[in-house]
Amino acid sequence: MTASPGKRILLIIGGGIAAYKTLELIRRLRERGISVRAVMTQAAQQFITKLSVESLTETKVFDDLFALTDGSGMGHIELSRDADLLAVAPATADLLAKMAQGLAGDLASTLLLATDKKILAAPAMNLRMWLHPATQRNCAILKADGVSFVGPEIGGMACGEHGPGRMSEPPVILAAIEDMLKHDTRIPLPAGVLEGRRVVVTSGPTHEPIDPVRYIGNRSSGKQGHAIAAAAAAAGADVVLVSGPVALPDPLGVKTLHVETAEEMLKEVEAALPADIFIGVAAVADWRVAKVSPSKIKKDAKQAPSLTLVENPDILAAIGHQSKNRPALVAGFAAESEKLEENARAKLAAKNCDMIVANDVSESSGVFGGESNKVCIFTKAGKESLPLMSKQEVAAHLVAKLAAMLAGSGR
Ligand code: C5P
Repeated sequence: MTASPGKRILLIIGGGIAAYKTLELIRRLRERGISVRAVMTQAAQQFITKLSVESLTETKVFDDLFALTDGSGMGHIELSRDADLLAVAPATADLLAKMAQGLAGDLASTLLLATDKKILAAPAMNLRMWLHPATQRNCAILKADGVSFVGPEIGGMACGEHGPGRMSEPPVILAAIEDMLKHDTRIPLPAGVLEGRRVVVTSGPTHEPIDPVRYIGNRSSGKQGHAIAAAAAAAGADVVLVSGPVALPDPLGVKTLHVETAEEMLKEVEAALPADIFIGVAAVADWRVAKVSPSKIKKDAKQAPSLTLVENPDILAAIGHQSKNRPALVAGFAAESEKLEENARAKLAAKNCDMIVANDVSESSGVFGGESNKVCIFTKAGKESLPLMSKQEVAAHLVAKLAAMLAGSGR
């Protein structure tokens, strides 16, 4: 049994020979009780006719950006917002490039930019176009933006070549659509919800020196913390990001302070208070070397050197337990490879936090350094599990949730 009857898909049909398979996809979607509204690019209409698509969807096909309501009473924003999910099939190189750049010169690209719902793209193109660095770059941007992909498959092409670039078959696209429809497909837009608020975020690893050239560190990339700082700034907050060493650009509109060690990080966080929200995302090293060698430790000594470690300050716990300057909301992350819930709840209490975001960082999860994250949010009020999503989407969800908690707290 499908979990999707009554769901609505907005199907964007791009101009490629694979468009003929989209006719079959429409039939299969409708068989599953999913209604389909279709938008065709001008190029798509060179491959299949509007009449075929209208016959199969049993509704008008949209193709004109400037026909404000197109006789249907539907403006293009409603067209985009009315659906539960947007599917792009075939997603041509041109459409993917437009999406990655945020272009909105025709109806299809405008809807893809204006949507508040998730997008699934089924690419189809010649293999050289698919393998071109420009297309790969565009797909990487879109994945980081939270767009999901199905295919392309490897096989023979209409142009006679063989390789990656064939659009996935309709049953495969249908399965991907139904899988996405099982989860919340809305993209939260927290614009303005943190206007006038101050948010302090930590991100990245810390580096604890051993000698002038060596340090103790970890694999944190800073992607999640930076995405949260960016989302808070997009929501209107005045944001201070205290970042350990990362290979990321400073997020736009965020005051970014660069530090190396846990002690430096704590100092900058305390200096950035008072704030309404503190979010500790940094993977702070738990220990530092007790006595940093002033010169490079030589390896020709008779014995391997032994390092004496001392505990670092726990920044999150220090801010959670602040008596004078405690932010109204203190949130932390719990990177766990086992006993996720138990450990997250223990941290919520021990560090006096309002929220702990637990994520599975076991090697198989690919979270550390990756583009996606699967988190479970623990608050005193309960637990919310989010599906696998991009770190940007996780950031938007958390910021929206914290903003709602702050508004609810009356502070
Ligand atoms: O105790 P654990 O390291 O698992 O807790 C993770 C949370 O605590 C993260 O939010 C992290 O930023 C924060 N933390 C901290 N200072 C430390 C260790 C962890 O702020 N020394």
